[in-house]
Amino acid sequence: KLLTVTLLGAALVAGSAQARDYDTVRFGVDVPYEPMEYRTPEGELTGFDIELGNALCAEIGIECEWIVQGWDGIIPGLMSRKYDAIMSSMTINEERREQVLFSDPYFTPPSAWFVPADSNIDMPAKETLEGKNIGVQRGTLQDNYVSDMYGEIADVNRYATADDMVLDMEAGRLDAVFLDFPVGKSTLLDSEDGNYKVVGSMITEPKSYFGDGFGIAFRKRDEDLASKFNEALATLKENGTYDEIFNKYFSN
Ligand code: ARG
Repeated sequence: KLLTVTLLGAALVAGSAQARDYDTVRFGVDVPYEPMEYRTPEGELTGFDIELGNALCAEIGIECEWIVQGWDGIIPGLMSRKYDAIMSSMTINEERREQVLFSDPYFTPPSAWFVPADSNIDMPAKETLEGKNIGVQRGTLQDNYVSDMYGEIADVNRYATADDMVLDMEAGRLDAVFLDFPVGKSTLLDSEDGNYKVVGSMITEPKSYFGDGFGIAFRKRDEDLASKFNEALATLKENGTYDEIFNKYFSN
């Protein structure tokens, strides 16, 4: 009994020496990743993550700020305290769990293959990708999956931003892109002069690549902060705020 109390005391002391009370949370985010995070023509940040993140902060009663950061350096930026959390459509997976603490998942979309409407690529017929130019955003789970599964037979083009990749697709330099489905839908399927289609099914497996949905990432010691966000997320799901934001971006 005494040992338990002592250990608990030590844990509390160690915890309080590290934990921080936040009155402002700075979120790192990689834009554009439409409709998750992007800028309006006026330059204002918007998107599902931004609106949900702001609503979570309002529910907690904390200020939040958004700091734009390239995807490549987004976890290092969290570690070096450039910001306090990452809310950037980051998929919860084992590899990242070793470095960061994730909130509960707030959205679980699949990935999908997007190709020009007249393409004869026909997934999952792997051979139809032979010698083709595939686009992925560098450092994403889509990059890991495509590089491992198709790196031998196709040319994997790894882009720093999803935007550069979509531009290359539009310029005819890519035969296929592999993306989080809502982002491909918004930037390719629904784009003004876009003439694209999805081939194959929605991809969610294997979990080792496709993980467990999008989560907010925190530094490991910020358990208290993560719990506050989890509670707030549950509240917004209950009171309809989550659905309201969700329907605004994903109703069609
Ligand atoms: N969901 C994918 C991943 O976690 C891609 C996320 C890219 N996010 C962004 N804002 N560019 O690997």
